[in-house]
Amino acid sequence: MNRPLIRAVDLVKSYPIGAGESVAALRHVDFAIDAGEFVSIMGPSGSGKSTLMNILGCLDTATTGHYFLNGQDSGRLSADALAALRNRLIGFVFQGFNLLPRKTILDNVALPLLYAGLNRPESHRRAAAGLERVGLGSLARQRPNQLSGGQQQRVAIARALVNEPRLILADEPTGNLDSRTSEDIMKLFGQLNEARGITLIVVTHEPDIARHARRLIHVVDGMIAGDGAVESVLQRTAS
Ligand SMILES: Nc1ncnc2c1ncn2[C@@H]1O[C@H](COP(=O)(O)OP(=O)(O)O)[C@@H](O)[C@H]1O
Ligand SMILES: [Mg+2]
Repeated sequence: MNRPLIRAVDLVKSYPIGAGESVAALRHVDFAIDAGEFVSIMGPSGSGKSTLMNILGCLDTATTGHYFLNGQDSGRLSADALAALRNRLIGFVFQGFNLLPRKTILDNVALPLLYAGLNRPESHRRAAAGLERVGLGSLARQRPNQLSGGQQQRVAIARALVNEPRLILADEPTGNLDSRTSEDIMKLFGQLNEARGITLIVVTHEPDIARHARRLIHVVDGMIAGDGAVESVLQRTAS
């Protein structure tokens, strides 16, 4: 049977804010994403995009509802099993790059491999190959603050790829970049999706970034307001 890589079923997330009150960040969200898709999740600030990404990335759990990753119900897994699933299947890219400032570019990219138990020479060999893939092979010995924002995000993408994940989750990956660099980063994502079949989910609040994907899930007030081919969803949101 052809089961989706990701399936969200009636997902609800509420954050308690004291005195018995809570904020409803996600309200009954349903969708499925197949392996190999390139999807943008777009919505205004505070609409629940990061909350959703944290659940998709197994960094947080839903209040009610189910999240299935690769057919496994994340709510039924122990914290350890969830972490193992996350490390095996998912690479993360964040708005702020999240590189370790005192480590070299090579060491930053090698880190997930060391965590996964590989030895240092093999980790470094694979990290160097990963840097080549994003066009930064010559910068391996530099430190993050010696690189431009766009280069730092490429390093973060190499780091996300080094464990050969099936899924990349990127939360506002171009939020700190100028528009030309943003285009370059989105093109790199598109190449990874096409050439290697990596499933990509990119959160953004900008239509021009969302357009790099094929499918758009539009989130408003913690609910799905539109889901389909990018241009048709964008047209509906504009009207
Ligand atoms: N840890 C938290 N505690 C309380 N409220 C939160 C927390 N995280 C997010 N929220 C609230 O949930 C809503 C959705 O937030 P978020 O998922 O960060 O939205 P987005 O990423 O789309 O800007 C907002 O109202 C936000 O204030
Ligand atoms: Mg956010």
